[in-house]
Amino acid sequence: MAATREEEIVEKTPVSGSVMVVGAGISGIQSSLDLADSGFKVYLVDKGLSIGGKMTQLDKTFPTNDCSMCILAPKLVATGRHPNIEIITYSDLLKLDGDPGNFVATIKKRARSVDLSLCNGCGLCVENCLVRYKPQIPETRDAGLDLEREEREKVDDLFEVHGRENESLIPIIQSINDEYGYLPKNILRYVSQELDIPFSQVYHVATFYTSYSLEPRGKHTIKVCMGTACHVRGSPRVLDEIKRHLKIEAGETTDDGLYTLETVNCLGACAIGPVVVINDDYYMVKPGEFAETIERFEKSDISPVTTEVEK
Ligand code: FES
Repeated sequence: MAATREEEIVEKTPVSGSVMVVGAGISGIQSSLDLADSGFKVYLVDKGLSIGGKMTQLDKTFPTNDCSMCILAPKLVATGRHPNIEIITYSDLLKLDGDPGNFVATIKKRARSVDLSLCNGCGLCVENCLVRYKPQIPETRDAGLDLEREEREKVDDLFEVHGRENESLIPIIQSINDEYGYLPKNILRYVSQELDIPFSQVYHVATFYTSYSLEPRGKHTIKVCMGTACHVRGSPRVLDEIKRHLKIEAGETTDDGLYTLETVNCLGACAIGPVVVINDDYYMVKPGEFAETIERFEKSDISPVTTEVEK
């Protein structure tokens, strides 16, 4: 039977000191660095858009509770700079022919639609992506007409205080959030119009920070820590208990507008986990204790059931 093209290439290719590592998670990265340091030419292939894998999405590592990015980041940089490592991302390994020391790999690179030699990581292509964001149709209507007169005056006062430059956007959004407890959409539209900043950019800032919300929030905010230390001490059960008690999911507000429930990753009080924060007060709430905590809170007895951390 006639040899295939790949088999012919394998036969002609001399045994080389190159290695292909498939999968650029933390294991693939470490293997590539070790091999590259030993003098091998390494081809690091991953189907994702970038290297790092799942570890880039983790806050902490188990069981040591170390910051995962602090471990990973230096390895990412070392991999990117290593002269013996060639990174091939957004690609799939289709075929592997040959024998040990003499393989031919067929790799399919998917189109990125971005010229990587020009990319400086500014992120503007994401902000202006026509697939994710609909093209802006210029507003012809005065956004100020959607506001009550007092509302409009309040926002105009903010322009007086913070100015009308691009840099004023974040302080203005912060002030609106402080005033209303959330960011009303009609006010954001007015800000976009008055600062002459595209609404997509205003929306981008308003949704970037977790302390801002586009929906009205409850009078009291309950934050449940789901960080590693609290998680192993039962915070998922505490969260379930709170959800049942308030009849809402995380991110929602009770019908009476009293409580908004949120989850957070580490509140900096790992030693007393599981930690629940109601407004600004820290509580150690073990599974089964939330009903009692909230009952006392509602009776304005702010003293926590167990321990309150000195702030
Ligand atoms: S994990 Fe740090 S406070 Fe919960």
